[in-house]
Order: sequence, then structure tokens, then C-alpha cells
Amino acid sequence: MLRQLLYSSRAKAESFAADLPEILRCSRRNNPELGITGVLILAGDDPDIVFIQAIEGEAEHVDLLVDTIKGDPRHTDVRILLDHEVEARCFASWSMGDIVVPPATADAARVEAEVRKALANSQGPTACSLITRLAPIAA
Ligand SMILES: Cc1cc2nc3c(=O)[nH]c(=O)nc-3n(C[C@H](O)[C@H](O)[C@H](O)COP(=O)(O)O)c2cc1C
Repeated sequence: MLRQLLYSSRAKAESFAADLPEILRCSRRNNPELGITGVLILAGDDPDIVFIQAIEGEAEHVDLLVDTIKGDPRHTDVRILLDHEVEARCFASWSMGDIVVPPATADAARVEAEVRKALANSQGPTACSLITRLAPIAA
């Protein structure tokens, strides 16, 4: 069974920009081994940074990874926004893509509000449709 999960969280470190390359390096090293694909969106400005991450893969691998991520001290307030079975991947070619929303065009609260609105307004949204809605903010 292929599962897709979307969560939001808040960065904890004062200077998070330094942690991001390490998180992406680690994801791109580990995720292919677990058959995990996805995207990590980072929005806002230090110290108010929000993450939105989509993770997809075999259910038990997604479980394992999410448990690890939840325990990561570099962020807090992890909220699962979407957790469902899917027939196909949205991010098949990304071991973990990244989208950095420039702080000048979007603050953390706006991106979070946008995700919540998209979830409330759509019937059974997939992470892909949410990311598509977020794209204009990142542009
Ligand atoms: C917002 C966020 C997203 C993360 N995403 C991933 C991920 O997709 N894959 C991954 O292996 N680790 C991810 N991590 C890091 C894990 O929490 C953990 O540090 C890492 O899996 C440990 O890997 P290692 O045992 O190879 O050092 C993420 C951490 C944070 C804070």
C-alpha cells in the first residue's frame, strides 16, 4: 500500500538556515533506500519558520520515517495535515525536493493559512494539489 502524508511544523533553532542543508543531505541519502519520495517546503524568516513536508512511500516505511522526524529536536509542533492511501506518487522523481519560499513574499503564517484553506476547501486533496496551490506564493 502506497501512503502519502503531509505535515506542518515549526523550526526551533534561532538560525535555521544552517540546519537546512544538513536535513536535505540526510534525506537524499536515506530516502532512496526506503523508497521514500516527497518535498520539503520552507517558509518564513528566522526565527519564525514553518515546514510543510510531503512524504510518500510504502506505509511501514512512511511510519518509520515520520516517527524519526517527529523526534527531531530541530523542529516542534508537528501537525499531521493529511495521511491517506494513494495509487500513485506525486513526487516520484524527488528523493526530497525542496522549495524555499522567499520571506519577502510570504510569511510563515500565510503559508500555513493557505495550506489549511486548501485542505478545508477540497474534497480529498492530495499533497500534489496542495503544493500546486502553494506554488504561486513561492513564485
Ligand atoms: C523538517 C525535517 C524534515 C526531515 N525530513 C527527513 C527525510 O525526509 N528523510 C530523512 O531521512 N530524514 C529527515 N529528517 C531528519 C531526521 O529527523 C533524522 O535526523 C535523520 O533521519 C537521521 O538520519 P541518520 O540516522 O542517517 O543520521 C528531517 C528532519 C526535519 C527537522
